[in-house]
Amino acid sequence: MEKLVISGPTPLRGDVHINGAKNAAVAILPATLLIDGVCTIDNLPNISDVKISCEILERLGAKITWNTPNEITIDTRNIVTTKAPLDLTSKFRASYYILGSMLGRKGEIEVGMPGGCKLGARPIDQHIKGFELLGANVSVEKGTIHAKAKKLVGTSIYMDIVSVGATINVMLASVLAEGTTIIDNAAKEPHIVDVANFLNTMGADIRGAGTDMIKINGVKKLHGETSYSVVPDQIEAGTFMLAAVATRGDLWIRNCITKHLESITAKIMEVGGNVEDEGDSIHVWCKKRPNKANIKTLPYPGFPTDLQPQMGVVLSLANGSSIINESIWDSRFQYTEELNKMGAKITAQGKSAFFEGVDKLYGAPVYSTDLRAGAALIVAGTAAHGITEVYNLEHIDRGYENIEEKFRKIGANIKRISE
Ligand code: UD1
Repeated sequence: MEKLVISGPTPLRGDVHINGAKNAAVAILPATLLIDGVCTIDNLPNISDVKISCEILERLGAKITWNTPNEITIDTRNIVTTKAPLDLTSKFRASYYILGSMLGRKGEIEVGMPGGCKLGARPIDQHIKGFELLGANVSVEKGTIHAKAKKLVGTSIYMDIVSVGATINVMLASVLAEGTTIIDNAAKEPHIVDVANFLNTMGADIRGAGTDMIKINGVKKLHGETSYSVVPDQIEAGTFMLAAVATRGDLWIRNCITKHLESITAKIMEVGGNVEDEGDSIHVWCKKRPNKANIKTLPYPGFPTDLQPQMGVVLSLANGSSIINESIWDSRFQYTEELNKMGAKITAQGKSAFFEGVDKLYGAPVYSTDLRAGAALIVAGTAAHGITEVYNLEHIDRGYENIEEKFRKIGANIKRISE
């Protein structure tokens, strides 16, 4: 078992380089199944979700060469099976993208129900509704989803819920469908735009990604022979922005798209932090105890649920009382019990949590309950007085490349220890 041992408090200072976006990468990789050719993808984050995605593709017949730790060349000309490996697809949520891509490529796929962070109920009814409207038959039996279509035909699909996964999955299934598909009430997250840009680079005809109406004109074939660079990770950048505030530090966050960070910038300024937009970098610093603030998580461009735990660390140290309303997931406050072990005063009930700000946090042994909760605990450990031990690192390694190395470079006293 591994743990991170952090000795604090340390104001984080210096430069951090942001990797490619996890949530874009785990959709772009299965999207390569729609290509009958070879393509190169760079700026891939070197994280376990990406490695498992690559393994799934290899088990389906793709050939993958790692050119560097962040770049692969992938040959998807020879796809040999329509059964996705259950042992791997159950390990993370985004394995559901195999459904849309393989329906498009082969007209059939069998895949296990996706795994991933336990954030409450995570239904996929909107994905299935979209596939069925395109002409597929979908059945779910004993934890396995089977989707089959003689032919996919474009149509209008209204999403009952704004869903990142369903928007991307239906987009994947419609790229090679006959005619035009319209996705209405689509999600607008930066990674949706990135997946559409990737597919368009490979020959697809997708318009309107990033708005709530996406139009996909089906094409006969996607060509390979092209390279694509994954968009910088909005959530990793936001994690370090909030780490700068929580530790009263001063960070230059490099290689990010500042437009994607506007909701975070606004909240940081509200709590008294400073933010300077430098084009492809963002400079964040905070010299005093943060002010209280209320947060409601929302789909993009609202405040992202995936930064709610990191913001929770800032508010647990704020001058005054704050409320967070979580509008996306039912169980996203499990981390508050861990922060309370460190001296925070948080009362969570249902989808709301009340934060009575404290002056200091104190080191303690704590457990990552999910990916972003784990990142929040590292931030808390860096801000806290004394020694914090963070366990359950497998959650954190799913989504952050070299996290302890990055924190160490900006001053944190942090090491990974195997027990
Ligand atoms: C993606 C992100 C995840 C992030 C979330 C919200 C990936 C791999 N994961 O998850 O990190 O927290 O967006 O920004 O990109 N819903 C339904 N039916 C469906 C689909 C979703 O009811 O068919 C509900 C969910 O229960 C949830 C809400 O819609 O309440 C949003 O979920 P969705 O946007 O689909 O999240 P994911 O794509 O799973």
